[in-house]
This record gives sequence, C-alpha cells and structure tokens, in this order.
Amino acid sequence: MQNNPIGIFDSGIGGLTIAHALKEELPNENIIYFGDTEHLPYGEKSETAIQNFSKRITQFLIEKKCKAVVIACNSASSIALQSVKEMAKNIPVFNVITPVVTKVAQQCSEFNIGVIGTKTTIQSNIYEREIKAICPIAKVSSLATPLLAPMIEEGFINENISHTVIANYLSNKKLANIDHLILACTHYPLIHQEIKDYYKNKVVVIDSANTVAEHIAKQLKTVNLLNNSAKTEYHFYVSNYTKSFEKSAKFFFREDLKLEEINLWG
Ligand code: DGL
Repeated sequence: MQNNPIGIFDSGIGGLTIAHALKEELPNENIIYFGDTEHLPYGEKSETAIQNFSKRITQFLIEKKCKAVVIACNSASSIALQSVKEMAKNIPVFNVITPVVTKVAQQCSEFNIGVIGTKTTIQSNIYEREIKAICPIAKVSSLATPLLAPMIEEGFINENISHTVIANYLSNKKLANIDHLILACTHYPLIHQEIKDYYKNKVVVIDSANTVAEHIAKQLKTVNLLNNSAKTEYHFYVSNYTKSFEKSAKFFFREDLKLEEINLWG
C-alpha cells in the first residue's frame, strides 16, 4: 500500500501547482493527477454538481489504487470534502483549505485577514468559519475574484492586463486594511509575486501549495504511508484534452508533461 500512488484532482489544471509542490516535498512519491477539464470552472457550478464530479473522480482514483486522495481545488474542498471522504472510505483525504487555515489561525492574533477565490469558495464562507472557530478575534473579509483563474489559464501574468485586473480586485473596499491575504484558489500561486508587489510587502500573502504539501508529507509519514522505493511515475489525466490545456498544464506544473484523456462519464 505505501508504494501506491497519491491521487490528486482539480477542476482542471490549477491543482498542478499542488502536484508540483508535492513532487518537490516528496520526490519518491508516484502521482496520479486528474483534471476535470470537461466540467471546469467548478467555481461557477452548483454544489450538487461539484459533489457528484468529485465522487466520480475519487472512485477513479481508488480504482487506480491510490493510497490517498488530495482535493487540489478550493471550490471542491469547500463543499465536497464530506462526499469525497464517504467515497474514499478508509484512505486519507486531504483538502487545500485545512492546512492553510490551521497555519494562519494558530498564530491567533487580531489579524485582519482577506480571502480571495472563486464564487463557490467565497460563498461557502468556509475560510471565515474555520479561522474564527480557532481564532475568534481574527477579522476575515472575503472577495470573489472570478476573473483571475481564466486570466491565469490564458497566460496573462506579469503584464498590463493582469496588473489591471489584480489592482481592480485588491482595491475593493472589503479588502481595505487587511494585513494578511489568503490566495484561496490553486491557480493563484502563479500570481503570488504580482500580488505581493501590489501590496509592496505590507501584506503577508499566503498561497496553499507549499503549506498543503508540507502537511500531506507530515501526515503520510505519521501513518507510515511514505513510498520507500525510488522509482517514481506520474500520470496526468484530463476529462477533455486540448493542446491548449497541455500547454497551460506545463506552465502550472513547471515542467514538461503529457496529458491523457479519459472519459469517466460514459
Ligand atoms: N482551481 C480551482 C480552485 O482552486 C479554481 C478553478 C475553477 O473554478 O474550476 O478553486
């Protein structure tokens, strides 16, 4: 069991930022990635639809003998965690929200925390609920920033268009006076620097990739599920293949990869 792959899924290719961080943290692990490119963006879908997609993908990852499932998508983590856990039965399930919330809230102080993400993630209000459960004195303000994920996928990074869109969102009065900003979408590590630059280092900007990878490594070690063989394999599946997804995927994973199309919905 311990040499079986880790299964990771996202609505598309954003979760590859998590896969990449996990590869850096745990270079001995085999990884199976599934990107539901046929159904993206999850940030605009109903809760029931996201829960059903997540369950079907989890079933696929279990058929592939994954020893753990990582929900590398904030939208799915915010509303489908329970569905995935029910489907995964006794294998560990990780999400991208808990490790970040725990890290921020444990330093409990009168922080003024901003959260940006898709409409689904922000409407679920999960960050505010979970942060306040650990640290009731923190103030949390959330803003949906739905243009950011498609903008990043189209490669608009570090240029005039992205500067304008980012500045437009971050200047929203909901985010005035924040001292921390959580990037609650797995696409956003790619604009981490640009957001930091916008704030001129006056705001602590937190993305989930490294925090989530460190958390998973620690947990798998605790339950004795770390791979002890040096032979690693990566497989990247998508529900809808296009050359343009493959091009963007390389950019998210920061290295060359091949996407394979697989139809889970008959
Ligand atoms: N990667 C997804 C997330 O973290 C955003 C993209 C989508 O809306 O599907 O929420």
